[in-house]
Amino acid sequence: MLPAPIEFPAMNVELKTGELFGSLWHRLTDEQYRESVQLFRRRFEANGFDLGWFAGKSCLDAGTGSGRYAVAMAMHGATVVGCDISDAGLETARARAAAVPGLTFRKGSVLALPFADRSFDFVCCAGVLHHTPSIETGLAEIARVLKPGGRVFLLLYGFGGLRWRLIQALRPLADELGYDAIDAAIARAGLPANNRKHFLDDLFVPILTLVRKTELDAWMVAAGFSDATYWSKEKTFDHESSIPAQIEDMEKLRRIFDSGDGPLFALGANVASVFLDAAQRADRTLVIGEGNHRVIATKSIRTM
Ligand SMILES: C[S@@+](CC[C@H](N)C(=O)[O-])C[C@H]1O[C@@H](n2cnc3c(N)ncnc32)[C@H](O)[C@@H]1O
Repeated sequence: MLPAPIEFPAMNVELKTGELFGSLWHRLTDEQYRESVQLFRRRFEANGFDLGWFAGKSCLDAGTGSGRYAVAMAMHGATVVGCDISDAGLETARARAAAVPGLTFRKGSVLALPFADRSFDFVCCAGVLHHTPSIETGLAEIARVLKPGGRVFLLLYGFGGLRWRLIQALRPLADELGYDAIDAAIARAGLPANNRKHFLDDLFVPILTLVRKTELDAWMVAAGFSDATYWSKEKTFDHESSIPAQIEDMEKLRRIFDSGDGPLFALGANVASVFLDAAQRADRTLVIGEGNHRVIATKSIRTM
């Protein structure tokens, strides 16, 4: 049964989020896109997931963005639907994935998925729920569309970490200065295309929730998931678990604010300098915080 369309009080938040991400995907070059499809394979393999499992499975990529993970699952033999609230994002994904068999895209929110109960063997939901007004609603929706015994892969931002604290301090300044001014400052700072997306996401996405593992564990159980297995933070192959990379990111944030004119840009640059100074003297826990949570869990056979 399909859920009745729901009107969240914050529905315009979803639209704003979709517009922001939709406008940013085209900034990834073809090379960066291909690399991110490869990264999916490397991460799943490194964490002991047999990619042969995908053959013949029915999969959903909820909040598919550019479609990179939907493409990766389809390339391993799954029938995949990529779903997103962003029209512009879906257009980019459709264009990029046109030649991939077994892959379709559909507009819809992870908070009210446009699919019948028990439709999928696997749901990938990477980097999405922490941008929605209700992580719990999203998890319940994912559980609803999974078959009993089906699996979910989640990526959620972890709680804490000085880079995130700096982002949280800079977001009100970015909001005052406006998207175009920050975008122009990023361009003046000379950062590469994927950096622009990364910083504009973090500075402007309407909702950015940092999730404690203990909370996530409780939400997954409440949604009917069991056997949660967290992936190793050492096998992520990217910057989030590396102190030098976190510090480099903070330096880039300082460069961005240094590249703009006026007191708010100067304030941002000063704030970034203070955080950088602290990060250079802090231990790993303080710099990284909990780090991104990547977790696979199974929908209990007994639920729904
Ligand atoms: C950080 S991107 C991640 C995209 C993709 N999963 C990946 O890892 O490449 C977040 C995506 O979630 C989408 N999104 C945000 N809120 C959503 C919602 N309520 N329902 C569906 N998609 C949503 C955005 O439009 C965006 O494409």
